[in-house]
Amino acid sequence: MAERNSKRETKTGRTRRQLLRQLGLSAVAAGAGKPLLSDARSTEATPHHKVKYRVLGKTGLRVSEIGFGGHSWSYEQVPDGKGGRRKPTIDEATEMIAAGIEMGVNFFDSCTPLAESSVPGEALKRLDARDRVLVSIRVSHKMKGIKADRQEIYKWTEDRLKLWQTDCVDFCLLCNTANDTPQSGYWDMSYSIEALDKLKQQGKIRFTGFGCHFTPELFLDAFDKFGDYFDVCSIPYNVRHRAAEQLLPAAKKKGLGVITIKPFARGHLLTDLDLKGADAGVPRDMIAFVLQNEHVDICTCGLHTIEHVRENLSASWTKLSPGRRKRLDKLAHRDIPGQEYAWLEEGWYYA
Ligand SMILES: NC(=O)c1ccc[n+]([C@@H]2O[C@H](COP(=O)([O-])OP(=O)(O)OC[C@H]3O[C@@H](n4cnc5c(N)ncnc54)[C@H](OP(=O)(O)O)[C@@H]3O)[C@@H](O)[C@H]2O)c1
Repeated sequence: MAERNSKRETKTGRTRRQLLRQLGLSAVAAGAGKPLLSDARSTEATPHHKVKYRVLGKTGLRVSEIGFGGHSWSYEQVPDGKGGRRKPTIDEATEMIAAGIEMGVNFFDSCTPLAESSVPGEALKRLDARDRVLVSIRVSHKMKGIKADRQEIYKWTEDRLKLWQTDCVDFCLLCNTANDTPQSGYWDMSYSIEALDKLKQQGKIRFTGFGCHFTPELFLDAFDKFGDYFDVCSIPYNVRHRAAEQLLPAAKKKGLGVITIKPFARGHLLTDLDLKGADAGVPRDMIAFVLQNEHVDICTCGLHTIEHVRENLSASWTKLSPGRRKRLDKLAHRDIPGQEYAWLEEGWYYA
């Protein structure tokens, strides 16, 4: 036990919980200080620009308007040189995360697959950067409204704390799938909220939220019923799937911080584009589009290479010209094959 506690101590010997208590709510000073990677890779990867910040709703936290998505570490999307694909290695992830932090990123999301917590957890440890960033976990469980819901959340959170190599995560978001609805009986957050309260009292999580593959209608229902309780929500939003535009004012009315996901519909919006030629800059512009919405606090994107990091973050200092906005509209409404994003097409598409 003593060994576990000492592992979680910061350089100054305090646990992260103690540090946060001392620093207060808006304490994360991202991007400050010396380069994280001491070799040439650091300067090569990092342009002089920095990502801008927004205030994350009622949390009062200063957050980078672009965050790193957890799928970056769990999807096999990096060419393996043999015609196949693989996940980024820990070294590659560390390089991408270091470049992101140096460019001002301070928000790191994670979903269900274990690598989404273990890979950035190890990278942050190597960079000694846990105290410079905000970490978010998602608890994906059936909200049955029974006491056993609590145990699932406790176990899930404990497991994620270990993988992130920390004693406290900044956000814990309740998630659900498109099939888990009031009709299927999985839409009662009461015991889940009780569990989150206990985790907060224990100092293991700081803020709470919800969101995932809910339908737009369920989001509205959740804003109404639970919006006063939660601190943030996570909602899909991109140039093709724009239903969020109708929902975000209701989220803001409740003071919720807004974390958007899927700026490229998991990459589908980039299908068949000539990103090194005629369509260069489209990923950057797609994120710039999301950031144009004043209700958005963080646009969370998936990325697999250092080039993705540079391009995606450059959206923060890119103004979307009318001509490039028109190009996005055209791309948004073309026919794109692929079933993986069917849930987005069903509820979130807005022509
Ligand atoms: N369960 C949940 O609550 C939930 C659900 C969905 C998403 N999320 C969160 O939201 C984050 C974002 O969603 P996402 O990762 O699914 O989708 P996304 O950000 O819409 O798309 C990511 C994909 O876009 C491509 N890409 C990114 N930057 C690029 C660039 N500059 N140039 C070319 N291609 C680029 C990459 O595809 P290639 O790999 O093909 O290069 C990458 O895999 C996730 O990582 C996750 O943290 C949470």
